[in-house]
Amino acid sequence: MNVSEARSLAQKSMSQKRFKHTEGVAEMARKLAMLNAMELEEPLIAAYLHDLAKEVPLKRQVELAQNWGLIKYSEDESAPYVLHGPIAAYWLEKEKKISPEICAAIAHHTLGTPGMSRLEMLIYSADLVEPGRDFPKVDKLRQSLYDDLEKGTLACMEHTIEYLQQKKLIIHPLTLKAYEDLKRRI
Ligand SMILES: [Fe+2]
Ligand SMILES: [Fe+2]
Repeated sequence: MNVSEARSLAQKSMSQKRFKHTEGVAEMARKLAMLNAMELEEPLIAAYLHDLAKEVPLKRQVELAQNWGLIKYSEDESAPYVLHGPIAAYWLEKEKKISPEICAAIAHHTLGTPGMSRLEMLIYSADLVEPGRDFPKVDKLRQSLYDDLEKGTLACMEHTIEYLQQKKLIIHPLTLKAYEDLKRRI
């Protein structure tokens, strides 16, 4: 699948509002890829496809994840909004023969994972700071990503963990593992 096919598949699979977010993630992915001298193809395909399963009803997402062996933590079922990445990645790899590298970036865009590649960091971060996002620290996070992809990704993870703590929401164990791992690597 090339970039324009990925874009069309996204456009026909989601609401206008989510497609607008997706275009924003693609814009940010392009910018971060250029700043890091990366080829654009993989970041753009991953950006266009990252939320492909987001609008599947949550109950159905849980069923699919159970059938496909994608439930790894009890939190996956208690907070099933984390499943849409792994579901899209599994389906795309099997049905559309998308590369494992792109699928990993799609699978880990919500929670992160230990040992993240640059492509995974780029999609995780672009999802959080795309031009349509508007929260107090967003400009600071963008600048930190422009300066350094790895340190910027760590700052994005820190922001997300603080936000979840403040709101007293569940912090998924994979997010904590991803954060500890990246902190150690930097
Ligand atoms: Fe998502
Ligand atoms: Fe997203």
